[in-house]
This record gives sequence, C-alpha cells and structure tokens, in this order.
Amino acid sequence: MQNRITKLFNIQYPIVQGGMIWVSGWKLASAVSNAGGLGLIGAGSMYPEVLREHIQKCKKATDKPFGVNVPMLYPDIEKIMDIIVEEGVKIVFTSAGNPKTWTSFLKEKGITVVHVVSSVRFALKAEAAGVDAVVCEGFEAGGHNGREETTTFTLIPMVKEQVKIPVIAAGGIGSGRGMLAAMVLGADGVQIGSRFAATVESSAHDNFKKTIVEVKDGGTQLTLKELAPVRLVKNKFFQEVQELYQQNPTIEQLKELLGRARAKRGMFEGNLDDGELEIGQVAGLIHEIKPAKEVLEAIVEEYQQVKKEQLF
Ligand SMILES: Cc1cc2nc3c(=O)[nH]c(=O)nc-3n(C[C@H](O)[C@H](O)[C@H](O)COP(=O)(O)O)c2cc1C
Repeated sequence: MQNRITKLFNIQYPIVQGGMIWVSGWKLASAVSNAGGLGLIGAGSMYPEVLREHIQKCKKATDKPFGVNVPMLYPDIEKIMDIIVEEGVKIVFTSAGNPKTWTSFLKEKGITVVHVVSSVRFALKAEAAGVDAVVCEGFEAGGHNGREETTTFTLIPMVKEQVKIPVIAAGGIGSGRGMLAAMVLGADGVQIGSRFAATVESSAHDNFKKTIVEVKDGGTQLTLKELAPVRLVKNKFFQEVQELYQQNPTIEQLKELLGRARAKRGMFEGNLDDGELEIGQVAGLIHEIKPAKEVLEAIVEEYQQVKKEQLF
C-alpha cells in the first residue's frame, strides 16, 4: 500500500495513530509503529522529562519510525521542542496553534512536520508555513475540535481542492470501510484516535476503556466552545456543564467549573463521574478492547477486501 504518506514517513500503511493526551504513551505508539502504521506519543499531558522517558522507551521498543504530537498551547513548549531535537525524533505533529511558530525551527533540524487543522483556511496557512502534510480533522473526532463543526466528509474534499501537500483525514474513522471512504474523498492517509484509545496498550484507565466500548451514537457532544471546544462523553461532569450553560455563564464561570486536571481525572484515573472523558463519535463502532496490532490489521484487511471486491 505505497503512496505519498507511506513514503513521507517510511511506513507500511498510511495509518497514523493520533497523539492523545493521557492515552498515547510509548507503549501504544511503539505497538502501532511495529504493526506498520505510524505511532505518535502524545506530549500534551507530559512534563518535559516524562516525554524524554517516553521517547527513549519508544526507541527501545521499536526500530520503526514513530513521532510526537505537540499541542502548541503547551506551557513548556520550548523545553518540549528541545527534547524532541536532542532525542533525535524525526516526525512531529503540531496542533492547537499557529503552524508558523515552530515549523521552520523543526524543518531546519531535518524533522518532518505535520499540522492538524479543522478548516480550509488553516490548511492553506499550514501549507504556506512549510509543513509536509496536514491532518484535516472533522468535528466527529475525539479531543479538541474546530468551533465551526465541519465534518470530516465535507472537510477532506474541500481541503484537497486547495492544497498540494498530502492530506491525512481524521475524525470518525474506525474501520477499513471508514478508511476507504476517506481515501475516496481524496485523503492520502488517515489518523485514527478513538479506536486506538480502546486498545490494550493505551494508557487510558480501564474504566475509561470500558466506557468507550459502552458509548453508543449520540453518547458524545462538542462542548466548552468558549474555552477550547472539546467532544466529551455525556457523563455527570458534562451534565454539570450543560446546566451551567442554561444560566448564561461568563467565561470565568466556565473556567471555574472546568477547574484543573479534569482530563487526567477522567481518562487516566478513571473517575467516570467527575472527569472529562474525551472520545469521538466513532466510539459507537468500538465493541472490544483489543491489542493495537489486531486493530490495525483488521482495518487494513477490511480496507483491502472492500476495495478489491468493491463491496460498497
Ligand atoms: C482521548 C483523546 C485525546 C486526544 N488528545 C489529542 C492531543 O493531545 N493532541 C492532538 O492533536 N489531538 C488529540 N486528539 C485527537 C486525535 O489525535 C485524533 O486526531 C482524533 O482522535 C481522530 O478522530 P477519532 O477520535 O474519530 O479517531 C485526542 C483524541 C482523543 C480521543
């Protein structure tokens, strides 16, 4: 399955495991890379020295390419970028910020840079900043999303029409059929988050993994748009946010309710009531917690079979 994305990263399949706070450490990233995809360590929930440890462990666990995802809102971003360079990381996915800020710094060090966007405007900005590819993420996706609520199905062809660099589709893809649909729309590869969050190697708490399997369609919603829009499971904390919205809250009140470490409490510590549980709409299609290799192989097999036999 050779194409622009497999060549860009030197991998077997054009499948990227999205960087995910509290979920994608070295175990998940190396498992995906060993299986022929591109694993990403999610730096967004790691102190700089914790990230260094994860990179070092990942290098020991795989001799295949892997990368690091860096949300640019990160407070210690200079230290994070220095560690990435010192540890010889070859691929960086940036998100949540201006692609101009770090792209040339990373490119000068010989690093392949990909930026995550949720609109055509930002895809063009990323291309102009010199990135090697863009991840175009629809608002079905788990985690933080675009305010405009553009879906993956509409975003991919619109971006494809405007940019020359490779396009990686993200949001709502959890099967070979989903991957094929994204490729038919013009994507050169896919980035998958939620499906990999419910794997054996994911560092999500078991309670959260079980919740992902239980969530049905309609079980998540995009919220907290005034702070940073995020798709959450409709648990007790989510209901509290909804109740506050009915009182026309100020940003300060929303911030106060959110407080600190909500995502850690929910996804890493397994507090299903009071924590933030970030997962995508595709959770409705996730029925089992399996090893990452099996997940990836099942996606590739279904993709190839459906494509060959034109079962759509
Ligand atoms: C629990 C969770 C945490 C995430 N954290 C990040 C992150 O730190 N940085 C980022 O760029 N994207 C993050 N994402 C988005 C994923 O990298 C990926 O683009 C997205 O999950 C794809 O959509 P899907 O969930 O429908 O597969 C996160 C997603 C999830 C589910």
